[in-house]
Amino acid sequence: MATDKPRIVIYGTGQFGCHIARFAHQKGWPIVAAYNRAGPKVGQDLGQVAGIGKDIGVIVQDCDTASYEKLQADVGIVTMTDRLSLNMPAYKRLLNAGLNVLCHGVEAYYPWGCDKALADEIDALAKKNKVTFSGSGIWDPSRIWSGILAAGPCTDLRALHHTSITDNQRTGKALMLFTGAGLTVEQFKEKQAGAYGIVRTYKTIPEHVLHALGYTVTADRVRIEPVVFDEPYYAKLLEREIPAGDCVGTRIIAEIDTKEGVTADATIELRCFKEGEVENMFWAVDGMPHTRIRVEREDSAHFTAACLFNRVRDAMAAPPGIVLVSQMGPMKHTALG
Ligand SMILES: NC(=O)c1ccc[n+]([C@@H]2O[C@H](COP(=O)([O-])OP(=O)(O)OC[C@H]3O[C@@H](n4cnc5c(N)ncnc54)[C@H](OP(=O)(O)O)[C@@H]3O)[C@@H](O)[C@H]2O)c1
Repeated sequence: MATDKPRIVIYGTGQFGCHIARFAHQKGWPIVAAYNRAGPKVGQDLGQVAGIGKDIGVIVQDCDTASYEKLQADVGIVTMTDRLSLNMPAYKRLLNAGLNVLCHGVEAYYPWGCDKALADEIDALAKKNKVTFSGSGIWDPSRIWSGILAAGPCTDLRALHHTSITDNQRTGKALMLFTGAGLTVEQFKEKQAGAYGIVRTYKTIPEHVLHALGYTVTADRVRIEPVVFDEPYYAKLLEREIPAGDCVGTRIIAEIDTKEGVTADATIELRCFKEGEVENMFWAVDGMPHTRIRVEREDSAHFTAACLFNRVRDAMAAPPGIVLVSQMGPMKHTALG
């Protein structure tokens, strides 16, 4: 049946895949299929997995044994992992089935800044199938578009500075542990070496904004540090106190150079929040005029899932290949249906 509502497929029925399922159900967007790796979700009705409270007639399929040949859908939403390399089987299956792919993994925002060879492969595959590949989520309006808008009024530009604090307890214990909360500084230094690859992805925020402003990135430098408080902190999710001087999160410091001489830097903290703190993202533009933008975020889990959902129509409308959210125009709400 013809419909003006996007027909979607969900690949990865975890926390954010289930958010997308609930939004789609609420708006009456057809959910054509849902996939997950083998485990307890497979074989269940998505309505039950996503907490909709009733069956919706979509059974979660094992992504490795399912057939993708007859999928009649517009967009495949991938909410699986942050890495392009790990998500590649999902991208291949959906792109080859003729679906536009919209991914929540953070490497998908700016694939060329993370893995150029894989980005080229995804771009070629999307073009071959005449569909798009893009990545969205909370960074889209709060970090990427806010940076683009801050630089908009400039007639002269020297440097961009981005700072932010994100509550590492907002979306669950996994993120909190990932940022090193609860470790001693020595343990942090040992463990973070393994996480460095994904933490490095944060450098793509200033890179992406510079690229969107027309600059050519030539070099990046990234380092990570533990964030510590000088007083003990009770961490609800760990159900214990983190002693003063132990790690409550990660600080990422990135510096980007361009061929044109304009630079950008970012100091990003993913850490425990004290009473009264609010997540915020700040851009200061050193140019003429000097401009500043501060974005505050609440309800981050809903925020990031809604950003992904609200980009579905843009992903369908864009030309084939990798399309960055910076090329799609500012995000538009779906509140009116
Ligand atoms: N773009 C952004 O700004 C942003 C913001 C927040 C989070 N994220 C990212 O969004 C992604 C999803 O987060 P989440 O909290 O929804 O994670 P999650 O709850 O762990 O859900 C991931 C789902 O994907 C499934 N899965 C994992 N690996 C798979 C594979 N190889 N093949 C098929 N299915 C697989 C998992 O299966 P089982 O658990 O059943 O095994 C799970 O159902 C993460 O990478 C997260 O970091 C992005």
